[in-house]
Amino acid sequence: MRLHSRIARLFTLPAAALLLAACGGAPAPDTGDETSARAGSAPGEVNLYTTREPGLIQPLLDAFTQRTGTRVNTVFVRDGLLERVRAEGERSPADVLMTVDTGNLLDLVDAGITQPVQSAVLAEAIPAHLRGPGGEWFALSLRDRVLYADKDLALEAFSYEELADPLWKGKVCIRSGQHPYNTSLIAAMIAHRGVEATEAWLRGVKANLARKAAGGDRDVARDILAGICEIGIANAYYVGRMKNAEPGSEQHQWGEAIKVIRPIFASVEGGGTHVNISGAAVAAHAPNRDHAVALLEYLVSDEAQSLYARANYEYPVKAGVELDPVVASFGEMRVDALPLADIARHRREASELVDRIGFDN
Ligand SMILES: [Fe+2]
Repeated sequence: MRLHSRIARLFTLPAAALLLAACGGAPAPDTGDETSARAGSAPGEVNLYTTREPGLIQPLLDAFTQRTGTRVNTVFVRDGLLERVRAEGERSPADVLMTVDTGNLLDLVDAGITQPVQSAVLAEAIPAHLRGPGGEWFALSLRDRVLYADKDLALEAFSYEELADPLWKGKVCIRSGQHPYNTSLIAAMIAHRGVEATEAWLRGVKANLARKAAGGDRDVARDILAGICEIGIANAYYVGRMKNAEPGSEQHQWGEAIKVIRPIFASVEGGGTHVNISGAAVAAHAPNRDHAVALLEYLVSDEAQSLYARANYEYPVKAGVELDPVVASFGEMRVDALPLADIARHRREASELVDRIGFDN
């Protein structure tokens, strides 16, 4: 319905407004006629501030523009998204703020630079534990933290708890405990089981390390290929990138050396696979609020979710969307049921714990 009415509007718009939209120039002049009265809901434009690599999301934005006629002006902000929008204040042109990591999104909300959005489309597409309770932020894709295992290991299932099992002594590889991907995982363990049990667990993991906790996620696959370790923890989407890399390249060899198992929290009820997210929020002073909401709603459409999943090898936030073949080969995902906001609240404790036990030393 919504799409149809938009397309209908596209065809009935006065030519002047269309022209304006096409060149994406200054806002419609205030002539007091019907043209300017409609400008707010015209195809128009929406300003997206994103920390994500432009190449990853551009195909999605192009598809949105093709469908709605709304132009997306992308401002790529590698660092300091929060500070920039805060400094721009009420005059900020930002409509949509897009970033990765629940903690980063919550920081935007806490800084007061977002606004809540009530949208039945977003509420239906995104499970409640993967968005702000009042529509303050929305997950758009999932980044599951999984086990990379030597492809020849006779291993079918795994729990995060097992990482501390002495059975794996000297066989585990992982990056720094202070990296946000790991503090998020450790924070989830704290949210499930408390700090004390998590400390005992993390000490066990530390005792099992094959090498210093350092490097990147792909280095886990590299080091499994090199025989330094047998298992490790890393994000799933890197496997999509490695396995789809040029045959014969180093990356491809690393990817082919491993298999992926999605661990779960086995010691708690409803425990599933830990995910972090990419997500977005509508900016507090969004000048194009309606288009901002329309963009978010588009990003959870089947089309966009499947584009996302195939371009980034991330996991769709919406159920029933077709997966990239490599990601599909990892099997079904049971996402951990804890609300992401609850997990993010334990980030600081997680970081302190990593320091306290000298995990990275
Ligand atoms: Fe990453």
